[in-house]
Amino acid sequence: MRKVRIGLIGCGLFGESHLQAFRAVREAEVAALYDINPEIAHRRAADFGVAKVCRALDEIYTLDLDAIDVVTPEDDHFEPVMKAIAAGKHVFVEKPLATSLADCDRMIDAARTAGRILMPGHLLRFETRYAMLKDELESGRLGRIVSMHARRNRTKALLPRYGRTHPAMENCIHDIDLMLWYAGRPVRKVRGFGRRATQGKHSDTFFGVIEFEGGVLGVVETIWMIPKGAGIMLNDAFQLVGSEGIADMHLQPPALSFWYESGYQAPDLFYDPRVRGGARGALRDELAHFCACVADHQPSTVLRAEDARRAVQVAQALVESDYAGRDIDITGWR
Ligand SMILES: NC(=O)c1ccc[n+]([C@@H]2O[C@H](COP(=O)([O-])OP(=O)(O)OC[C@H]3O[C@@H](n4cnc5c(N)ncnc54)[C@H](O)[C@@H]3O)[C@@H](O)[C@H]2O)c1
Repeated sequence: MRKVRIGLIGCGLFGESHLQAFRAVREAEVAALYDINPEIAHRRAADFGVAKVCRALDEIYTLDLDAIDVVTPEDDHFEPVMKAIAAGKHVFVEKPLATSLADCDRMIDAARTAGRILMPGHLLRFETRYAMLKDELESGRLGRIVSMHARRNRTKALLPRYGRTHPAMENCIHDIDLMLWYAGRPVRKVRGFGRRATQGKHSDTFFGVIEFEGGVLGVVETIWMIPKGAGIMLNDAFQLVGSEGIADMHLQPPALSFWYESGYQAPDLFYDPRVRGGARGALRDELAHFCACVADHQPSTVLRAEDARRAVQVAQALVESDYAGRDIDITGWR
């Protein structure tokens, strides 16, 4: 079987995770890399045995590739995605799809017109616990949704990198996407509250309240204040209250931790864990799904750009609410 040949753009922290994940997908071959920082692209090529490093963005689109994987910073998805679609490639793009609705619309229109896959990287739809929750909801056993509460807290050590983007767009976007997926209905109104305990560009502490049509309530929380010495990178939780039952999940306390004289460590067991040097978990499963869709020339029914656009719309309204200090009504927003 011919492998799915991929060109990866953006070789930073998560680009490295994508390279690890693709290495664990038998049908995938990362054939070319590009990064505006050539040094990091060459380092990744050496580490992962990638034959080609492109000198300029446009060069990657001239190669014999089936798909382009865009793992650039949140504000830099538009150009590499649009050029990939124009070159006739299928595209995987990390979350958020884009940081503006106008960019999301142009990407979606371009992919639709060209008949190319545009798959957004909402990996939690492939994470076992969140996906099981979706199945449980669809079985009807939880009844109708009354409320959802999501926590996605992070170590302070990640702030210098991800503080570049408002936390609603950077991190709450995961839970906004999940809540839209679970609720299966649009959002009516939002209110965002940001606070800044450190000296970053954006808030390091953010709460968003989301009211869905029909009255379902959602609360998204992201706080980037876990002390660097705690040995904990992520503290995530999700609780869904239904009329007939409750779904409840936590990362902390972890199922596995290491206790050393130098301190405590709680490794990631779900999103991008490594075993015997190889990737497992949600990211690997998500990228394997992308390769299967590309090989079959079929769009995904799980990861759809239109859904990712809705999450961007809600995140954007939460950012606006945080700055304006008032509710933002998005009823009727397309
Ligand atoms: N799904 C998840 O759980 C998850 C986790 C982490 C990051 N992400 C997403 O992945 C994306 C990348 O994040 P990251 O952590 O790797 O960031 P990063 O800053 O570590 O890496 C970004 C890389 O892109 C390069 N770059 C910047 N602008 C570019 C351009 N115009 N063209 C080519 N290369 C460019 C930079 O040199 C850098 O190497 C973001 O959208 C982020 O939100 C998702």
